[in-house]
Amino acid sequence: MSPEEFESAARFIKERSGLVLTRDKAYLLENRLLPVVREHHLKSVSDLMAAAQGGNPALQTAVIDAMMTKETAFFRDWKPFEHFREIVLPNIRVSRGMKTGFRVLCAGVSTGQEAYSAAMTIRDVAAAFSGWQADVVGIDVSSSAIEAANKGIYSQFDVQRGLPVRALLRHFTKQDDAWVIHDDVRSFVKFQTWNLLEDLFQLGRFDVIFCRNVLVHLDLKAKFDVVQKISRLLVDDGVLYLGLNETLTGISKSFRAVDPATGIYAMHRADRPTALSLATKIDR
Ligand SMILES: C[S@@+](CC[C@H](N)C(=O)[O-])C[C@H]1O[C@@H](n2cnc3c(N)ncnc32)[C@H](O)[C@@H]1O
Repeated sequence: MSPEEFESAARFIKERSGLVLTRDKAYLLENRLLPVVREHHLKSVSDLMAAAQGGNPALQTAVIDAMMTKETAFFRDWKPFEHFREIVLPNIRVSRGMKTGFRVLCAGVSTGQEAYSAAMTIRDVAAAFSGWQADVVGIDVSSSAIEAANKGIYSQFDVQRGLPVRALLRHFTKQDDAWVIHDDVRSFVKFQTWNLLEDLFQLGRFDVIFCRNVLVHLDLKAKFDVVQKISRLLVDDGVLYLGLNETLTGISKSFRAVDPATGIYAMHRADRPTALSLATKIDR
């Protein structure tokens, strides 16, 4: 691929997903797109990009899907889920008054482990939420990842990464070599293919948003754009979880860091700086 072709391909991918590809990542482009080249019986990555940029929608989708880093794990980094269980869920229980429902969004959910980790956490405290409606929504630009998430079937390798044995035995059934998530968890989790660069408003509003290890791959403009959209989806006392190495410093004033090392942020409104947040323990 010539340097000009690489620049043009990188621009195309950035416009459609926010992913930044610097010249030193040319090998990544080749590595990730070669399987697409083969699958579609094309000759080269250059031919694939020419067809995608020429307007072939199936190839455009395949290119974006293949370029995404979909690395994930159940209860990844553990601490955010501990915070969700110990602080946020009890706060929701005491602060919602007559409203008996809450919604969680996993933005950039990859193959579903993050959404199922949140759902298992909710399921484990179900007694405290008897009669409540919980919704967990997982979205990702990768349709192959969403397809896998929808199945809710994981390999031995997947469940060995982060899932405690107790949770595995409580929430999964073994079928042949794979583990299938139980319906009582699966039933309140929904997945949709969705690009974070597009309008998110139709998703409705959320009490908690996980957007972990997604921003780190985006260029600055896309980061601003996505964080602003997320701030509009989150309720006033809502919580945002980012990845451990991600920060909103210099990106948004709509959030305040509660525990930046763990990626925990609360909504912040300049006119109500001391408003209660689900992210910090509410005395009852
Ligand atoms: C590294 S994974 C993180 C998965 C999970 N959040 C976690 O922390 O384990 C990043 C995910 O973000 C998704 N992603 C990247 N850009 C996106 C965009 N513009 N819209 C929606 N999803 C996107 C990728 O497809 C990928 O599945």
